[in-house]
Amino acid sequence: MPSPAITSWWALGVLYQIYPRSFQDADGDGVGDLKGIIARLPYLVDLGVDAIWLSPIFPSPMADFGYDIADYVGIDPLFGTMDDFDALVAAAHGAGLKLILDLVPNHTSDQHPWFIESRSSRDNPKRDWYLWRDPAPDGGPPNNWLSEFGGSGWQYDERTQQYHYHAFLAQQPDLNWRNPDVRAAVYQVMRFWLRKGVDGFRVDVIWHLIKDDQFRDNPPNPDFRPGMPPHAALHPVYSADRPETLQVVAEMRRVIDEFDARVLIGEIYLPIERLVAYYGEGLAGAQLPFNFALLSAPWHARTLAALIERYEAALPPGAWPNWVLGNHDRPRVASRVGPAQARVAAMLLLTLRGTPTMYYGDEIGMQQVPIAPDQVRDPFEKNVPGIGVGRDGCRTPMQWDATEHAGFSSAEPWLPLAADSAQENVANLNPDAQSILNLYRALIALRKRLPQLAHGDYAPLAADGDLLLYRRHDAEGSVLIALNLGAEPVSVVSETIGLDGEILLSTAMDRGGERVGSELSLRGHEGVIVGPAPDDVV
Ligand code: NOJ
Repeated sequence: MPSPAITSWWALGVLYQIYPRSFQDADGDGVGDLKGIIARLPYLVDLGVDAIWLSPIFPSPMADFGYDIADYVGIDPLFGTMDDFDALVAAAHGAGLKLILDLVPNHTSDQHPWFIESRSSRDNPKRDWYLWRDPAPDGGPPNNWLSEFGGSGWQYDERTQQYHYHAFLAQQPDLNWRNPDVRAAVYQVMRFWLRKGVDGFRVDVIWHLIKDDQFRDNPPNPDFRPGMPPHAALHPVYSADRPETLQVVAEMRRVIDEFDARVLIGEIYLPIERLVAYYGEGLAGAQLPFNFALLSAPWHARTLAALIERYEAALPPGAWPNWVLGNHDRPRVASRVGPAQARVAAMLLLTLRGTPTMYYGDEIGMQQVPIAPDQVRDPFEKNVPGIGVGRDGCRTPMQWDATEHAGFSSAEPWLPLAADSAQENVANLNPDAQSILNLYRALIALRKRLPQLAHGDYAPLAADGDLLLYRRHDAEGSVLIALNLGAEPVSVVSETIGLDGEILLSTAMDRGGERVGSELSLRGHEGVIVGPAPDDVV
């Protein structure tokens, strides 16, 4: 009995993350904008994705490039106007694309009117909207909680002589989600955008929302080693993933469900067993708690096979899985696994069971761009320099063509372009039938054509070494996916997997239609999808 989720657009579709600053600049200031996104919608339709998620576009001092919001219901002039936004909703929907916004409810900017009021005096009505605490007896921070961006999580306010808590920058004060007025205010924000027609939210750091009511010290992390980001010195057991957070997630879901066919996606970096709790009791939580396991998993077939099985086994009954290969916080997949394996990774993402989320530019194989010290924009890298936490390298402008500034902008872009952007760009890869861009297109098209890939069950097949082997099947039939994660050729004896058919797609894009005989051979770094020939399907 298929779960009801399988008919939903967010279960069947492919999600595509746009980092708006870097997608397309229409007004010539070197920063991407909403009009730029509108201009590129045909590209996304052609790629075959179903929904776009925009990182924040709201008014912001940009201390954390939009993840510090000063007005939840406006558009930052850098990105355009509310009219531009309405035009984007209309154009996206007109093109058959859903539009997902970023909701950042854990913290505001320190320039948000709520915080300005809250900070103004201890008895301001909004004082309790944020987390204010007295100093410790020695005058220092109230407890040992650390900011993810370096240093203490507490910032002292001279005027009112208390500290406010910030899980990220001091300019990103955390809201107090135990306060019902805060909840009501953010739920109104959600309704504002849902009424405008947005199709859902990706909720920033959703697992951070509620903190320990006693503000207990976090325990040390025994696995902490030099070279790790400083906040990893502690286990955030009291500052994140508190049990009460799940009540908030369920409340957010109820707001989502006031509207038809919308989605709640949670940003959650937790071990799989904790992550799946965010589906909620009776699946009344997030429909898609983002599964980031592929972002950090060692790129090894046995490790990945075990990870996929562990995730599949941990899912609550009826919960719909999802997989993410890249985002604006982690190094580009093509740099993590190398350009050859980036193709295999694409095939993995688009053949696993669950909603795939792509990150802009991964479809053209964009690499992590080296950022010179004087080019650093990311506050994380500025605060914690030199250990590789910087996120600028995965946020560089989309490479559209070989013109100046890669067709991204008429002006110098806010971050440097990749050195190879004159070759590795959409215009160049388009006509190349075997390019990674055309591989992505073919994978997405195949996922749409074959119901087994869209919503069939996942069945692992025994394999060893560098081979990752699985089947996706339903009552109508079965598709085999064989991925070679190594550089050496491998082969699979077809009787042992019992599959008759032909190669529907190879990552090299050169074996389509090849009949699978007694043995299926894969070249180094090759993945194939084997299934019934299109003509065999009645
Ligand atoms: C998670 C976002 O993805 C990241 O970019 C941001 O810096 C932090 N949350 C703080 O909002």
